[in-house]
Amino acid sequence: MSAGARARIAALRAEIARHDYRYYVLDDPEIPDAEYDELMRELRELEAAHPQLVTPDSPTQRVAGTPSDSFEEVVHEVPMLSLDNAFSDEEVRAFDRRAAERLGTDEPLEYLAEPKLDGLAVTVIYRDGLLERAATRGDGFKGEDVTANVRAIRAFPLRLQGKAPALLEARGEVFMPLKGFERLNRAAEARGEKTFVNPRNAAAGSLRQLDPRITAARALQMYCYGLGSVSGWELPERQSELLEALRRWGLPVCPEGRRVQGVEGCLEYFRQMGERRAALAYQIDGVVYKVERLGYQNRLGFLARAPRWALAHKFPAEEVMTRVRAIEWQVGRTGAVTPVARLEPVFVGGVTVSNVTLHNFDEVQRKDVRIGDTVIVRRAGDVIPELVRVIETRRPAHTEAVALPRHCPVCHSEVLKPEGEAVARCTGGFSCPAQRQEAIRHFASRLAMDIEGLGDKVVAQLVERGLVRSPADLYELGAEALAALDRMGEKSAANLLAALERSKQTTLPRLLYALGIREVGEATALALARHFGDLDALVEAAHSHPERIEQVPDVGPVVAAHVHAFFAAEEHRALIGRLRDAGVTWAPFTARAADLPLTGQTFVLTGTLAGMTREQAQEALTALGAKVSGSVSKKTRYVVAGEAPGTKLAKAQALNIPILDEAGLRRLLEAHRR
Ligand code: IVH
Repeated sequence: MSAGARARIAALRAEIARHDYRYYVLDDPEIPDAEYDELMRELRELEAAHPQLVTPDSPTQRVAGTPSDSFEEVVHEVPMLSLDNAFSDEEVRAFDRRAAERLGTDEPLEYLAEPKLDGLAVTVIYRDGLLERAATRGDGFKGEDVTANVRAIRAFPLRLQGKAPALLEARGEVFMPLKGFERLNRAAEARGEKTFVNPRNAAAGSLRQLDPRITAARALQMYCYGLGSVSGWELPERQSELLEALRRWGLPVCPEGRRVQGVEGCLEYFRQMGERRAALAYQIDGVVYKVERLGYQNRLGFLARAPRWALAHKFPAEEVMTRVRAIEWQVGRTGAVTPVARLEPVFVGGVTVSNVTLHNFDEVQRKDVRIGDTVIVRRAGDVIPELVRVIETRRPAHTEAVALPRHCPVCHSEVLKPEGEAVARCTGGFSCPAQRQEAIRHFASRLAMDIEGLGDKVVAQLVERGLVRSPADLYELGAEALAALDRMGEKSAANLLAALERSKQTTLPRLLYALGIREVGEATALALARHFGDLDALVEAAHSHPERIEQVPDVGPVVAAHVHAFFAAEEHRALIGRLRDAGVTWAPFTARAADLPLTGQTFVLTGTLAGMTREQAQEALTALGAKVSGSVSKKTRYVVAGEAPGTKLAKAQALNIPILDEAGLRRLLEAHRR
């Protein structure tokens, strides 16, 4: 092997890495693309002639390996937190005041302000300077291993420049610049393929490609904004110095970051970025302020899910005007009849919106939304679009106020809206196909009978084709009927049959939950099972001694009335008989309270959770034996803190009680689920 080749290869790699750095990090390329391609070609040829000299950090090895069929899970050693949001100057001032108070300083705090990039958070681990692993944020505790794809992004150095720490975990946002996004969509359109609704989805979709060659072909960029685990390096004093160090190691950092003085400096930066936003090469949805001194960051620490030393100041939710084409009514599992406005499609907050829920009839009346009305629709980031208000001056002549339908749009049964309730309901029960479909979906769901493979689309077809009218019909389905459904082959039909078979051995709480009795969630189903021990005793009580149902802990008169009404109906008793005949079995329920995993533990909930209501969280916890209390004391096992937590959180911190955020709660529930 020639020493000349070895030296030339080393020189080429260094030169290519330098051009990548100039291009992606400094945004200041030195040579035209053709010359760069020429360097790569020469390196490839030399490596082909001397394969023993190929190393993983060679730029020719960015896209290596074969497509995989899934992503491995990665547990983040340091959790990847989220940020608290502010939507007004006042909220920013309050944040700054709280931080200063906690630190006990009168001096204006210094901040590092930077754009809030609209992409997805990724963490990249360099060991001894070599890119070892990259992962998505996931739920903050564990994400997906996307190393092969991140290697394919040329903005990432495969090897850090200069003297790198033994371990460096760089965190930042992967995003797709607008030009690349438009190019990608134009190409997709030309091929008649689906386009991405916004650059963020395009970035996420590109990073989660199982074939890294596809990722490589997409114009992804990354800006680093922080650190995870580090060893072998002494942290500097300031956030801005930390970013400087990342830059020196060759990592891309957003050039728009500025040190600003005090809250006024923050707000001034926000205004400037608001003006410059449209001219940037990428999408941003706000700005982020971080306390500049790392010592202060340490002292401020973390709340449940976000640091106390950083804040995202979001640009206001975008509002647009559009017209209401129609108001339609949808029917849910319990017969709730919900109004939905069909809109002339508008692009707002990064997506095209053509429907918004109006929640219930009272809301329709309150907003006085009519067909043909011009309305304002608002959407911020991930939030569900909402109809803000009607512009009455633009109302066409001869419109009529919307009336509550007297009959169900699906089954034509009567619709009733009980006095004092917001929700109107179809009285058709199981004879209503819409309710039937939802009821069957619920019956099959994971916490109910857990019938794998019986997804929404399959259920919809089964109901539409009249193959399934009641959950019991599921157990009479044959392989042929299933295989004849759209997008269902023999193999998936066989899998579904096996799943149906498996589901027959169930537990009493699951069965009770699966029946879909109104107001009977997981926890109530469990309480009923525990109290009555077996189904016959419950049916008997519902029938002859309804007052006994109210004796079940946590069951009030409303729930008791629903339980009574359910088992009083002939069709429901027939359903249970048919399930039994089909071979569905459940053992008498003997578990004592002490057998449950969270028995004896008291939880306190504060703030709002994004993915579940407080009732759902409470129900899930009590189903596992936990007690949910309204106030924090020394005996509290955990405080679950959502968005905008109240004083309970402060109290928990004062008492040193462990705090769970939403992801933590989910993990805990998941871990204990039967
Ligand atoms: S700092 C502990 N800085 O926003 C600090 N995040 O809402 C965590 N994001 O998950 C993040 N630009 O995906 C930070 N300049 C920036 C950011 C940024 C975008 C994203 C990031 C994070 C989310 C939190």
